[in-house]
Formats: sequence, structure tokens, C-alpha cells
Amino acid sequence: MPALRRLLLLVAVTVGVLALCTGTASAHANLTASNPTDGTSVSPSPTTVSATFSERVSIGVGGLTVRNTSGARVEQGSSSLDSAGTTVSVALRPALPDGTYVATYRVLSADGHPVSGSFLFGVGSGPVDASAASLSGTSGNRIWEIAAALARFVMYTSALLAAGLAFFLAFLHDRDEDRWRLIGWTRIATITALFGAAGIVIAQAALLSGRGLAAITDGRVLGDAVESRLGWSLAALVMGLIAVHLSTDIPNLTASQALALYGGLATAGSFAIWGHSTELSPIWLNTAADIIHAAAAAVWFGGIVGLVMVLRRRTDQPVASTAMIVRRFSTVAAISVGFLTAAGVALAWNATGSWSALVSTTYGRLLLAKVVVVAVIIGIAGYNRSWLVPALVQGEEERAPAESDSTTPVATLAFTEEQRATNWSLLRRAVTIEACALVVVMGITSVLVNVTPARTVIAAADRVVNQTRAVDTGTVNLVVVPAKAGENTLHIQYADAAGRPIDVANTLTIGFTLPSADLATITRQTTKAGPGHFIYTGPELSIVGTWTITLVARTGDFSEQRTEFQIPIH
Ligand code: HEM
Repeated sequence: MPALRRLLLLVAVTVGVLALCTGTASAHANLTASNPTDGTSVSPSPTTVSATFSERVSIGVGGLTVRNTSGARVEQGSSSLDSAGTTVSVALRPALPDGTYVATYRVLSADGHPVSGSFLFGVGSGPVDASAASLSGTSGNRIWEIAAALARFVMYTSALLAAGLAFFLAFLHDRDEDRWRLIGWTRIATITALFGAAGIVIAQAALLSGRGLAAITDGRVLGDAVESRLGWSLAALVMGLIAVHLSTDIPNLTASQALALYGGLATAGSFAIWGHSTELSPIWLNTAADIIHAAAAAVWFGGIVGLVMVLRRRTDQPVASTAMIVRRFSTVAAISVGFLTAAGVALAWNATGSWSALVSTTYGRLLLAKVVVVAVIIGIAGYNRSWLVPALVQGEEERAPAESDSTTPVATLAFTEEQRATNWSLLRRAVTIEACALVVVMGITSVLVNVTPARTVIAAADRVVNQTRAVDTGTVNLVVVPAKAGENTLHIQYADAAGRPIDVANTLTIGFTLPSADLATITRQTTKAGPGHFIYTGPELSIVGTWTITLVARTGDFSEQRTEFQIPIH
């Protein structure tokens, strides 16, 4: 038990550190653009501020808040969402004084994960004061992201343990006296899973509202936290855990088996209602794979813990019935590992989409770490199944008649008493290592499920084109969002060699040409939105291909500055 406590503590600390390291990446919907653009100054004072995300979001008790450098709020009214559900806006007080402002967003992404962050903008011609970022009020997020990851670790480990132990008791155990110990642990695990789920709700409420623990005293915030998906997921989890708990109470074996089976399925299925599976397409495949994956994980993890308990309890009298439990579990575990791996690979492929994503993204690297640990466990399990378990079963099978029939010469047995004892002890150690390594897998998974899937990260990066060119006056930066055929927004920022915004012209002419198509150049004009800053939104980039965008800034009566960009449109 002290060793188990040490392991749980170690994994919990690792989960905390991983959550700390991946915290900034733990949003599913990413901020792709803001108006004003992060770090730029505008003049005159804008009337609204907006934040655009890579996918649908909802506001709930969150939204956009804007503060000046004294920390005073300068937005008016509440935030609103556009019809596509991707852009959140809020009105500002009229004619804000010159200075730096920090806009903080708190929204709920479509898969149910809270997303928060901030961007800075200036009013007037002065540079933006980067130190104002500390006023965003998002510094406490890290603590709550770590708390959420730990709560998920507790919930996953306990819920899968409860469901798996109940399955083990109902289908694999020999109903010997030691079942009471397993029943006790199943009940403890169901209750711990509920505490884990409560922890997830509290962390969700804190992250959504930005009000820390005080959030749980506000019914509206809690209501928002369990709104839709998380609420349904928790309802399924609670129902599943109740059935699992009841399965250990009922003496009738068939009823107990039905409750363990369906309760376990509801528990595992509850995970698929909330999280990445609900947003990565094809959703039906993800949802099915997620349910199979979690159900198989429960059977394997709960079963292996059940087996460890049985083997540790029966050190003195490993008998044929124990060998039978081992054999039955070995077969069930092999089938579970098959389903778990197939479903895991389907989930992994949908979330990454390429081999390179495994090394180039946080999500991919965490997934790789998980797969490496699982591969080691499967190696140990394979050794158990192909060598240790047959040897044990054979040893116990030939010992039983030899014990009842004292005429059988012991010398004719394939396994001596000593070899039998060594095999049992080897198995005990091997399954204990497997169980501990599965706890580590659960720890990695608790962080993985909150990190933006690699496919989303790569798609979001593809959707924004951000290029900078050197010009006589310094640099000019062009950002095209979403860089997809159709309506796009162009953000153009002129800066001096030190990166400060500079005015090069009051109007800018933009030329759009698609060299691969026989199209005449389309010319548009836009006026200054702030110091050196121009914004243009229009439908000109309507065809897929590499467009040439030419910016012409009239810098004097007889001079102009021309800059060309090659922009891929998908
Ligand atoms: C071949 C090895 C495995 C692969 C490739 C794999 C892959 C994955 C992937 C891609 C996800 C989805 C994460 C997300 O939501 O973005 C996932 C979820 C999960 N995995 Fe695995 N996994 C493997 C083995 C395991 C094992 C051995 C266990 C535990 C016994 C496990 C437990 C879980 C759990 C609990 C979830 C969360 C389900 C949810 O919340 O929807 N996995 N896995």
C-alpha cells in the first residue's frame, strides 16, 4: 500500500507538471484573429473589440472584457456572438483616451473545453505597452488547468477501475471469499470517481468565469459549467457508476452480470459525450472508437488490478481455481487489448492526420509517450500470456490429480513445487508492474484529452497566412485570415526597423492577381485603421491557388512603395 500511494503521488505530480507545461496549448478552439490586431495601435478609438476563433464557441458567463492600464473596465454591455459562432464582440465606451488596453476572452469551445487568453491593443499613435498583459486576469488559469487535469486523472482512474473491477467480479472471479475485498475497492472507486467528476465541474466553472473557487457559489456559473455536453456526460457517468455499485450488492449472478456490463458501458460511454470525439470528424467513428476504447481500457485496467489483489491475497494457496481466473482473464485481456489498440489507433489517426504531427505538436508528442508506455505493457502482457500463464495452468492442472492420487510419482510432473512457486511469484510481479504502468497511461491521457488535437493545430496554422517583407522604411507584415477561397480579411502593418508602427501613407492600394488563371488584376483601396495599420475585408480571393497580392503605399506626390506577397489560398 505505501508503494501504491507513492506511485499515485508520483503520477499525480507528473500530471500536474505536464498540465503546467501544456497549459497554453490546452484550448481546442484557437484565437485566429482579433480586431484590433494583437499588439497594434489604432486611431481613432475603436467602437468594438472582437476575437475570432478557429471553430464555434459559446459565451455563457464568459465573453470579452477590456481593461485600461489602471485595471478599469472600458467595455459596455455584454458580449455577443456572430451568426457563424466564431467571432465574439463587445462594444467599447466612446472615445477612449490614448493608451494601451488589454482584452481578455473566456469562451467555451464546441467540444466543451474552456478557452481563455488575452490580446493587447493601443489607441492613438504610441506603441503598445507589453507590460499591460499582466492585467488580463488569466494568470490564475494555470492553477485551474492543473486542478482540472488532476480531477480528470482521479475520475478516469477510479471510474475505469470501478467498471473493470465490477466486470472482473461478475464474469471472471471464482466467487471465493476474497471477493469482499474486491467489492470494497469497487465501491471506493465509484465514490472516488464522483469526487473526480465534481472536481472537473469546479475547475470548469473557475476557468469559465475567471473567478476561482468563488465561482462555485454562483448558480449561473455552475449551470454554465455543466451546460449541454459536460452535463450529459456527467449524467451518464453517474448512472453508470450507480449500476456498477449495485452490481456488487446483488446476490443473483445474472442480474449482477447485467448491471456490471451495462453500468460499465454507460461509464465508459460517458467519456465520449464530452471532449475531442464530439468535434473531430467523422464524429460517428470517433464516438464509436471512444466508447470501445474506454470500455476495453476498463476491462483491462480493472481486471489487472483485480488479478493483482487476488494473487496477493492467495500467496499461500495458489490453486487450480486461481489458475482458472488467470486463464480466463488472460483471454479476456487479449481481446480487450485488440479492441483497445484498434480503437486507439482510429482515435489517434483522426486527431493527428499525419505521421509528422506526432513529433511536431504537443498533442503528438504526448500521444507518442502514451503509445511507448502501452507498448512496454503489451510486451509484458504478451510474455505472460504466451509463456507464464500456460506454464501456471499446466502446473496446477497436473498437480490437482497428483494431490488427490498420492500414487502419481512427483518426479513425473513437468513442474517442481519450486518452479510452480517461482512462476506464481513472477506472475504476481508482472501484473503489478502492468497495473502500475496503466496508471501512468491514465496520467498521460488526463493531460492529452485537454491538449488541442494535432490535426486542429495544423489546420489552424494552414488557415492563417502571415508573411513579412523588408521595405525601405523597415518591414511590412501581411496576415490573411482564413486564407480559404471566399471572404478573407487582410491585416497590413507597416513598422520601422525597431518594430514600431510607422505611418507610410493614409491610403493603400491592394492588387489581387492569380497568375495561374487568366484574370485581370483586381484593385481595391483601403484607408488607415491606425498607425501604419490597414484592414481590408472582401471576397476577391475567391479561387483556390497562389495569389499575388501587391500593396502600393503612396509615400509622396511622386513616390510610392510597392510590396509583393505570394499567398496560398486553400
Ligand atoms: C495503442 C495504445 C493507445 C492509443 C494509440 C491510444 C490513443 C488514444 C487517443 C488518441 C485518445 C483520444 C484523446 C483525445 O480525446 O484527444 C485516447 C483516449 C483515452 N485513452 Fe487511449 N490509447 C491507447 C491506449 C490506452 C490505454 C492502455 C488506456 C488505459 C487502460 C487508455 C485510456 C484512455 C482513456 C481513458 C481515454 C479518454 C477517453 C475520453 O475521455 O474520451 N488508452 N486514447
